[in-house]
Amino acid sequence: MRIQIHRFQLIFCSLVFILIFFYFYRWRYIDDDGDAIGTIYITETRYSPDKSMLNDYEKNKDEKYFSNRDLNAPVLIWWTPFTYDTGSYIRCGDQTRCFISNIRKYRDNKDFSAFLFYGTDVRLDELPLPRLQHEQWALLHEESPKNNYIFSFESIMTMFNHTATFKRHSDVPLTTQWLGSIEDIFDQTFVVDVQTKTRLQADQNLAPIIYIQSDCNTPSDRDLYVQQLMKHIRVDSYGSCLHNKDLRSDLRNPVAAMEHIDILELVGKYKFALAFENAICTDYITEKFWRPLKVGTIPIVYGSDRYQDFLPDNHSAISIMDFGTPIELSQYIHEVNSDDALYDSYRQFKFTHEISRESLLARTMSERTWGIHNDRTRGNFISKLECLVCERVHKTRREQTQTYQAKFDDYGCPPPTTFDEDGIRLERAGSWYRTYEYTRCQVEVFQEWIAQGIYNFTEAQLNEAASKRFSPSFRRNEFLK
Ligand SMILES: *[C@@H]1O[C@H](CO)[C@@H](O)[C@H](O)[C@H]1NC(C)=O
Ligand SMILES: *[C@@H]1O[C@H](CO)[C@@H](O)[C@H](O)[C@H]1NC(C)=O
Ligand SMILES: *[C@@H]1O[C@H](CO)[C@@H](O)[C@H](O)[C@H]1NC(C)=O
Repeated sequence: MRIQIHRFQLIFCSLVFILIFFYFYRWRYIDDDGDAIGTIYITETRYSPDKSMLNDYEKNKDEKYFSNRDLNAPVLIWWTPFTYDTGSYIRCGDQTRCFISNIRKYRDNKDFSAFLFYGTDVRLDELPLPRLQHEQWALLHEESPKNNYIFSFESIMTMFNHTATFKRHSDVPLTTQWLGSIEDIFDQTFVVDVQTKTRLQADQNLAPIIYIQSDCNTPSDRDLYVQQLMKHIRVDSYGSCLHNKDLRSDLRNPVAAMEHIDILELVGKYKFALAFENAICTDYITEKFWRPLKVGTIPIVYGSDRYQDFLPDNHSAISIMDFGTPIELSQYIHEVNSDDALYDSYRQFKFTHEISRESLLARTMSERTWGIHNDRTRGNFISKLECLVCERVHKTRREQTQTYQAKFDDYGCPPPTTFDEDGIRLERAGSWYRTYEYTRCQVEVFQEWIAQGIYNFTEAQLNEAASKRFSPSFRRNEFLK
């Protein structure tokens, strides 16, 4: 009897533990906008750190160890702990070696050369300031501007020397971070012929358009547009945003399920798929854009203003920005929906396997030196950035005059926009524009303080000063609807 109770307790406790674990685990991956770090695949699992050594510069007391340790290679530090690496050597090319670590105290080492930052985790009150004369800064930020608006401001961007962002001109451009390979574009697995798609609309009561989104309050305010569009053409919405159709329960966890073959099959049955990003910035392109192309469904895009450059040809997607209103868009969709030849003209590349010469897609993919999904043959973009910084640090050691400077446009996204009741785009409006303007105030205060040599301030102090500045300007401008 006693033993049974024991066993029962043990099983009960284990179950609770497992449930708690999965609860938190799930949240890490829940965002279907590619905003979770869970989407980055780290190829090497370096040895796991003693957590007490991470993060806190002040807590790492062993001065001598970090400052005198003879490493004989430039020291690079992830200021925002990221790879869980307490210290190891990386080799970039034959001769070039660097020591890289998450431990901030290595800043005291005589070979310390550069900090690396993961954009989403950077906080203005927690930057390593004042900066040493020779110290170089690198920014990895492949995620949406909504995660951290500070990089939408020039004075912040130009603090960096090296960048890896979704912008095509960054040092390690990650524009195609959500595309596995060029073969995905030509994949035939989920392509349904147009007559069958038409029949499915009748037989299975499918709408012309599919929408699957579970992040409903976004800086692009996409749902406001979709809501208007839905008044003029049917949209089957499977996610929690504007939900009107149920997904099978095992497919509801967005990120885990989005590449599930049943989802790809589902999207493939539809004629059109809404590919609306959560924020609008040049070259910010996610899986929403590639998935319809992969399955032979026409993407209706709202995202990068230069999205055409990454399409297989100039006639493979429909942009909402080419239409004045959702009504006009819906009229065109109805037209394409009922004209088989016109429909198929949007997926020529599926039949011809050709990418137009003007498209950057083929070139970008063939020049890309990193892979995704734990591609062991090529490694990932995190290692590429680490090596870029390592090589450049070596170069500046040899040639003292060599300089590197990030530009605003290496991230630099525009202010958020929204839509009015008719689905017309409004510049500088909406609740996210407020967040953006508030961040501007934080950035301004921050710049003034560091110009005055004030480096030691808390988040609360920064917010207090930013709020003082924000409120009057916010009252003056009527940028909220
Ligand atoms: C699209 O590409 C075709 C062939 O490459 C070209 O003739 C046409 O002018 C292009 N259209 C636009 C709008 O760029
Ligand atoms: C790195 O950027 C900072 C800030 O713009 C600049 O002062 C410094 O000279 C740059 N370092 C190199 C090696 O280019
Ligand atoms: C920063 O400020 C805190 C509290 O105001 C103080 O305890 C700490 O010593 C200061 N640190 C530096 C490096 O000045």
